[in-house]
Amino acid sequence: MTKKTYQELRSARWFAPDDVRSFGHRSRVMQLGYGPQDWEGKPVIAILNTWSDIGTCHGHFKQRVEDVKRGVLQAGGFPLELPALSLSESLVKPTTMLYRNMLAMDVEELLRSHPIDGAVLMGGCDKTTPGLVLGALSAGVPFIYMPAGPMLRGNVKGKILGSGSDTWKYWDERRAGKINATQWLEVEGGIARSHGHCMTMGTASTMTGIAEAIGLTLPGASSIPAVDSNHIRMATECGRRAVSMVWEDLTPAKMLSRASFENAITVAMAMGCSTNAIIHLVAMSRRAGEHCAVGLDDFDAASRRVPVIANIRPSGDTYLMEDFYYAGGMLGMMSVLKDHLKLDALTVTGKPLGENLVGAEVYNHDVIRPLDNPIYAEGALAVLRGNLAPDGCVIKPSACAPQYLQHTGPALVFDDYPSMKAAVDDENLDVTADHIMILRNAGPQGGPGMPEWGMLPIPLKLVKQGVKDMLRISDARMSGTSYGACILHVAPEAYIGGPLALVKTGDLITVDVPARSIHLEVSDDELALRRAAWTAPPKRFERGYGWMSARHIQQADTGCDFDFLETSFGAPIGEPDIY
Ligand code: FES
Repeated sequence: MTKKTYQELRSARWFAPDDVRSFGHRSRVMQLGYGPQDWEGKPVIAILNTWSDIGTCHGHFKQRVEDVKRGVLQAGGFPLELPALSLSESLVKPTTMLYRNMLAMDVEELLRSHPIDGAVLMGGCDKTTPGLVLGALSAGVPFIYMPAGPMLRGNVKGKILGSGSDTWKYWDERRAGKINATQWLEVEGGIARSHGHCMTMGTASTMTGIAEAIGLTLPGASSIPAVDSNHIRMATECGRRAVSMVWEDLTPAKMLSRASFENAITVAMAMGCSTNAIIHLVAMSRRAGEHCAVGLDDFDAASRRVPVIANIRPSGDTYLMEDFYYAGGMLGMMSVLKDHLKLDALTVTGKPLGENLVGAEVYNHDVIRPLDNPIYAEGALAVLRGNLAPDGCVIKPSACAPQYLQHTGPALVFDDYPSMKAAVDDENLDVTADHIMILRNAGPQGGPGMPEWGMLPIPLKLVKQGVKDMLRISDARMSGTSYGACILHVAPEAYIGGPLALVKTGDLITVDVPARSIHLEVSDDELALRRAAWTAPPKRFERGYGWMSARHIQQADTGCDFDFLETSFGAPIGEPDIY
């Protein structure tokens, strides 16, 4: 492998020339206390840190960034921490998804505009992984992803609690009067008890696992719990490796191929992944270039081929990410999946995936199941199409009651979240377990930002009857920790006039998951009349980022990226050369 020389580094353009501009760069870096020993002959490694006082899942990043810096210094690099947009899933309204592309733009421009040769990306909470990766892919410099790691299992009075999943479960119990306010508060205090991201197989664990499967993390990195000392050593190794990647010129353009993203789909299916994974992975693959692009049909095909073998909640019913790590983690799981993976796909180690898996083992075959004893033989995700969703929608069959996989029922339609929320608590609501609840105008533009409203609450009347699941359809997303017969991501969305906008309460809808179809049982003539009478809802934004997002965000089936960011991948990062 030919090594880059110092003069070939991007940062040398800022620091090396004997001219007045470089005088300015050097003198102002010296103002910070650095000297030529810090930069001469050394790659500058940006450490993009999504820490903030309100970044709940990244509380350890203030310390961890020092661990990464240590690694960069050990390897002869110049570490610089740059703060990036902190997106705390549980606190940002209406949804962090609205800001995923903002983080991506933040990252791309931070890397492009500064004297940066390579990067370590520090993220983990749901949208931080795709946001960081999307931006870094477009910036094009060598980078490595440092996952935050899952938090420890939740615990209340000796009972294990899982992020999100137990929130919904205990909330339903409280609504049904089965637990009291004091018991509810005890759950509140025990469900998130250490640093790290959600420890169910929700969006965070899915996305960090996907980052590893693409080849963007050190082997095994995504499974290490945030508070494990192995996590500190992994962070330091990220710093060291980022320096080597710069000298090796291991850019994403040289590293990634369609095989990298196909591996990610395979792993996602085996994990019983969050439905959010589809949107983010599609977006990431499209940023990586046309030759890497994957789509909904690739997920559906993989779902039929790859069994769910990670017995982790919410697809599983007992174990959490801490158990997954002790059972062998992502490396162990990928060793089981070997025959389904493209082992020659290159990774940040500079080696193909297959070499990274040498020696990987599973230590608990109930947590990471063998292929011939999966928790679901197929069906982590299914893509449905029909007159209600011409561009597709998704369901997670592994997390829903089997009777809803083939079902016809009357629609119960809500145009917005507040009216739906008020109705479900009305004990006189005209609803049965056969109804199909619909929430619309909750998509990429309508939400705005496609909030995680797709697991519509079961109406109180039915909860009290013991109903635990029913069919629900929306153009929203749902949390990766959610479960139930929820059909999501309907495209095109209702807000822009997709067929979902034309449904009326009482219309019959047929869902057939084995046949991958979803059909509104209304004649084409009647639908044409309804379309002629349809008027677009009022605009959500008149100014600002929301205004820009509404004009440029694409639909769920193509990843919700901004149209103007989907430029050809691999364009040289050298735009600043002209300044
Ligand atoms: Fe951050 Fe769940 S709230 S990962």
